[in-house]
Amino acid sequence: MANLGITKEDLILVIGATGRQGGAVARKLLEKNWKVRVLARNPEKAFELKERGAEVVVGNLDEPSTLEKAYQGVSGVFSVQNFWETGFEREIAQGKLLADLAKKYQIKHFIYSSVQSSGRKTGIPHFDSKWQIEEHIRGLKLPYTILRPVFLMQNFLYPDFKKAIDSGVLPMEVKSNRSLQMVNVEHVGDFAQLSFEKQLIGEEIDLASEELTPVQMADVFSRALGKTVKYVYIPLEESERTKGKEWSKMFEWFNKTGYNVNIQQLKSRYGVHLMDLNTFVYRVWIPQKLAV
Ligand SMILES: NC(=O)c1ccc[n+]([C@@H]2O[C@H](COP(=O)([O-])OP(=O)(O)OC[C@H]3O[C@@H](n4cnc5c(N)ncnc54)[C@H](OP(=O)(O)O)[C@@H]3O)[C@@H](O)[C@H]2O)c1
Repeated sequence: MANLGITKEDLILVIGATGRQGGAVARKLLEKNWKVRVLARNPEKAFELKERGAEVVVGNLDEPSTLEKAYQGVSGVFSVQNFWETGFEREIAQGKLLADLAKKYQIKHFIYSSVQSSGRKTGIPHFDSKWQIEEHIRGLKLPYTILRPVFLMQNFLYPDFKKAIDSGVLPMEVKSNRSLQMVNVEHVGDFAQLSFEKQLIGEEIDLASEELTPVQMADVFSRALGKTVKYVYIPLEESERTKGKEWSKMFEWFNKTGYNVNIQQLKSRYGVHLMDLNTFVYRVWIPQKLAV
């Protein structure tokens, strides 16, 4: 069978590598001995990846000429944007531009990280924007894989969230009887690596590793911290006031509809071990908490 994808002789460009998803992807690829180039606005932030063997190029997703340069000699690309910085229009423009350049430079494997339920007409702007980017990628007929993560467990590391949990309160906009699917961001790295390795071209993979109600989440933190962590429901009006409309709209949808990954199927189809919240808290949340 013809080799459709890339091999370890090829160079992979990772976008967003100084952030959570791109960082997980770059680390995993380097661990598995892929050749990695990372795009960074501030190369100093990519220092650790450079030490691990990555080539660092300076560039900006809003400056096409820097991306043209970053694509030189590249065969694989991992693409992610940050809606929370760009907003709707700019996220779409950046996502489409990276896909257009993949077409122009005949990239052999383009991986795009979207969000689960992007195509379910949620009315949540940062879900709809990602669907538009997906449609553009499919329309270009790129050799692509789309990864669609749910709520990242790493959100629990946001300073306000972390501080609250540490003080014994898990504040959440999710209602007590609703469950929320979540995923450790390291699995974005695992699945990007797997997609390149197994040449999973044309696959669209929804990523979740755990599903819990907020009461169950609080129990996990309570057990791990050895003290009571109490779930407190945050009404959407309050959330809109403090965190903005985009955030509260997403939680409104979490409470009405919610993510729908078949986690068992994900495990059995790809033969992967998926991390539950308990393990995440012990292995990631507590050590990071002590380091601060
Ligand atoms: N949080 C969740 O639960 C969740 C779940 C599913 C999907 N998502 C989606 O994930 C996306 C964010 O991914 P993330 O969590 O990995 O974000 P992140 O940790 O904030 O990292 C964003 C990365 O993008 C880079 N970047 C941003 N603007 C850039 C630009 N103009 N040029 C070059 N690089 C740029 C940042 O570089 P700097 O280091 O220079 O800032 C950083 O490396 C969002 O679109 C969100 O909708 C989030």
